[in-house]
Amino acid sequence: MSFQQNSRDDFPVLGTSVHGKPLVYLDNAATTQKPNVVIDAIANYYKQSNANVHRGVHSLSDKSTLALEEARNTITHFLGAKNQELILTRNTTEAINGVLYGWALHNLTKGDVVVTSQLEHHSNFVVWQQVCKMTGAELKVVPVNANGELDYEWLESHTQKVKLMAFTYVSNALGTVLDVQRVVSVARNVGARVLLDGAQAVAHMLVDFTKLGVDFFAFSGHKLYGPMGSGGLLVRQELLDKNEMHPWLFGGGMIAEVHADHTLFHDDPVERFTAGTPDVASAVGLAAACEYLTNIGMETVAQHEATLVAYALEKLAQIPSVEILGPLTNRVGSVSFLYAGVHAHDVAQVLDSQGIAVRSGHHCTMPLHLAHDWIATTRVSFAIYNTKADVDTLITGFEKVSQVFGK
Ligand SMILES: Cc1ncc(COP(=O)(O)O)c(C=O)c1O
Repeated sequence: MSFQQNSRDDFPVLGTSVHGKPLVYLDNAATTQKPNVVIDAIANYYKQSNANVHRGVHSLSDKSTLALEEARNTITHFLGAKNQELILTRNTTEAINGVLYGWALHNLTKGDVVVTSQLEHHSNFVVWQQVCKMTGAELKVVPVNANGELDYEWLESHTQKVKLMAFTYVSNALGTVLDVQRVVSVARNVGARVLLDGAQAVAHMLVDFTKLGVDFFAFSGHKLYGPMGSGGLLVRQELLDKNEMHPWLFGGGMIAEVHADHTLFHDDPVERFTAGTPDVASAVGLAAACEYLTNIGMETVAQHEATLVAYALEKLAQIPSVEILGPLTNRVGSVSFLYAGVHAHDVAQVLDSQGIAVRSGHHCTMPLHLAHDWIATTRVSFAIYNTKADVDTLITGFEKVSQVFGK
């Protein structure tokens, strides 16, 4: 049995039908499906270990605390980070907002510059617009060419007063991969911090936070075969040691002492950044997803998906009405395109009627779409369980688009 067939059988939802047709799920950039090991890990946690963490003195609380600790170890090991560098969040959006409230509001002032790009997901764009309004800092936006590549020379020549560079590792709209080393080297030269939005990277490539050398790394567990409502922010140890990163949620669990007129926060960053009851089941589920991927091997995942992306690019290029957007190489996970004379939502609806799930719209990247006059695009995005047969079904699906719209 092939690697794909094995992995398909691990995902119960892939055995379901849509409009009477077998589901072909090509919307993985929005969220991935969950394997049985993740679903079981969550159920088993609730069946065998559920209790509040840390505060209990009883055995079940210890068991739950241990489950959370082990989950944190597995997740951070998977991402090449240290346990204390992880702040668990509900998703990438919350993680990036954590950098706004925990770092930016304490470290930016009027006249400072934040740099982001036209390629960003709104989560890594709107947040910086807002922080600039709050602090008086200025937002600079690196232009992106039609291939979805950042103008690195522009970045290198706009470094004055830059305090933060916030870029996506992999574009959710075009699949473009950032030259992280180049960005980090520009940032280090001017003493700026770097935030990497890893939402579209973690499920597709081996991520080593320490080797990347960035200061912040945001990711969503639900795009990594983990549960909805799981994710995290990695913060480089040095920033934690220097107290450059501040807690932004206050309350129980994160304190050392509370007095009528002041409070001392926990020294330990894991405690300091965990206010209130954590979602232990989500962390346990996400850890199970990390283990699942480790067993397959991220190199195998990357290779498999690269084959699928190349195959999709080849097949889509043969459809005269389709214009592929973004780079032909240096692309991970997704392929977006325009279909001449047919709105992306109509393309997606006709494909859906055949059981094929794709995404249409601006994919939360309006600045990119506006810059290139794309009203809406259609995106197919891949995961480990997709096959070349899925791409073939997609290509056949276009025959109906052509019949319905006469294009
Ligand atoms: C590149 C990128 N950043 C951020 C996000 C936001 O992720 P979430 O909705 O899980 O917060 C997404 C979601 O699609 C994304 O693709």
